[in-house]
Amino acid sequence: MNTPRHTVTLRFLAEPSDVNFGGKVHGGSVMKWIDQAGFTCAANWSGQYCVTVYVGGIRFYKPIAIGDLVEISAAIIYTGNTSMHISLHVYAGNPRQEKKEKTTHCVMVFAAIKDQGQTVPVPKWAPQTEDEMNMEKYALRLMDLRKVIDEEMKPYL
Ligand SMILES: CC(C)(COP(=O)(O)OP(=O)(O)OC[C@H]1O[C@@H](n2cnc3c(N)ncnc32)[C@H](O)[C@@H]1OP(=O)(O)O)[C@@H](O)C(=O)NCCC(=O)NCCS
Repeated sequence: MNTPRHTVTLRFLAEPSDVNFGGKVHGGSVMKWIDQAGFTCAANWSGQYCVTVYVGGIRFYKPIAIGDLVEISAAIIYTGNTSMHISLHVYAGNPRQEKKEKTTHCVMVFAAIKDQGQTVPVPKWAPQTEDEMNMEKYALRLMDLRKVIDEEMKPYL
């Protein structure tokens, strides 16, 4: 199998063990899946062990039903020196039907680390297509916004 090294897609069925008290998929399960897809994408790109540094702006647009086919797509959209910024989209729907709905989006930041926990440089991502260039600009705008959010949150850390 040959997949582009900067993207990863996970597909599976939402299981009964993922249920919340309302009968739909637990938000915590979705966050775990996002983290797993992001980690796989980061490790695949860097060839290193990676840890989650930041998760921003998770929005749950629609509920996911137990038994739905869930698809999580992760893509590198920007790399710093040791960090990888990854866009994640979650789609879900009845496996008997073609239509899948976008249920969640967020951007996560992972850092590549060595055995002792120190960060290591990652290969540079160079966007080629117009879409990829737009996504890189999106990541840079989010970085600027994050600085404002970090300042705002400082007194409460
Ligand atoms: C990730 C970790 C090793 C970074 O250590 P650190 O001493 O802060 O290292 P740095 O300051 O060099 O930051 C590493 C990268 O993260 C980025 N980063 C740091 N804070 C960030 C933030 N708030 N948002 C986005 N990126 C951030 C830095 O810009 C840097 O990227 P760059 O080299 O591309 O510029 C450390 O914070 C850690 O171990 N955190 C816990 C990770 C964890 O347990 N995750 C959950 C389970 S996987």
